[in-house]
Amino acid sequence: MGKGSGYGKVILFGEHFVVHGVPGLVSAIDSTTDAEVQKGGKGIQIKDERKTAKGYSEEKRLQQLESIERMLKTMGIDPKISLSIRIGGTLPGFSGLGASAASSVAIARAIAQELGMQISDEKINQIAYEAEKAYAGNPSGIDNTAATYGGLMWFKKNMAGGPDKVERLHMRRPIEIIIGSTGKVANTKAMVEGVAERKKKNPEKYDPIFKQAENLSHAGRKALENYDLKKVGELMNENHRLLQEIGVSSKELDMLVDLARKQGAFGAKLTGGGGGGCMVALTPGKDLQGKVLSAIKYLGFEVLSTKIGVEKY
Ligand code: PMV
Repeated sequence: MGKGSGYGKVILFGEHFVVHGVPGLVSAIDSTTDAEVQKGGKGIQIKDERKTAKGYSEEKRLQQLESIERMLKTMGIDPKISLSIRIGGTLPGFSGLGASAASSVAIARAIAQELGMQISDEKINQIAYEAEKAYAGNPSGIDNTAATYGGLMWFKKNMAGGPDKVERLHMRRPIEIIIGSTGKVANTKAMVEGVAERKKKNPEKYDPIFKQAENLSHAGRKALENYDLKKVGELMNENHRLLQEIGVSSKELDMLVDLARKQGAFGAKLTGGGGGGCMVALTPGKDLQGKVLSAIKYLGFEVLSTKIGVEKY
């Protein structure tokens, strides 16, 4: 049996904007998707045992099958191969946490191991990028890169098609965060397409917002490197406002973001594709983290309590 894993992630600055060449900042989280693959059976059989938001597996089913077809093609494997795939791990299937990219990395690694193929991380990342097209249409590559390598990263898509700019960043100490899930499954592909269409139709509105997003990512990087957490929080709030302006937030996301801020979070924003999915709040220290966690849980929403900037993942 072949086994493999991929990291979940939170985007701290720049989701959606990264698709268009604006740099983004992403951190892996301590939850992974794990896959086991065994040759045999009949066609591609998937047993998805992840904890998910209601309806996630059904909604993503066709995209998942397409992603595996894309993966096999990129790996040069006969599409008629029979494989039994089991997907599990600690990363829940909530939209916004890079669950699709984490599963693609995990499955590609498990397939490679099962078939005795030696594949570098660079190649795994490329395979997962091709697979991610099934879920995101025109992905930036930030999710598969975080899922493959882990850590805290600065990511800038190469719009000319060459290698993307990926820099590993280091922080003085990891920071506690809270991830709150709206429980709503989002269609990343539709969200990404929506932004591209609106941007094309209305450049007078969108171009200045994209410029602000670029400045924000740079300022966010500087604040993180200086460990100025108040500033990081303020910039996350600002990033959320830009995401609202480009039409990817939702009333549940705005509500959770407001709630986290009212409980003392240094900053909060939606994370990932939006339109449902998750928000991330910066909550340095165990006490603040616990306070924000309780408030969100109290309203009946699912919460993950984790850290960003941990070196080992
Ligand atoms: O919702 P997720 O976890 O798939 O994140 C999507 C991030 C986007 O920036 C919206 C798309 C991308 O490929 O970068």
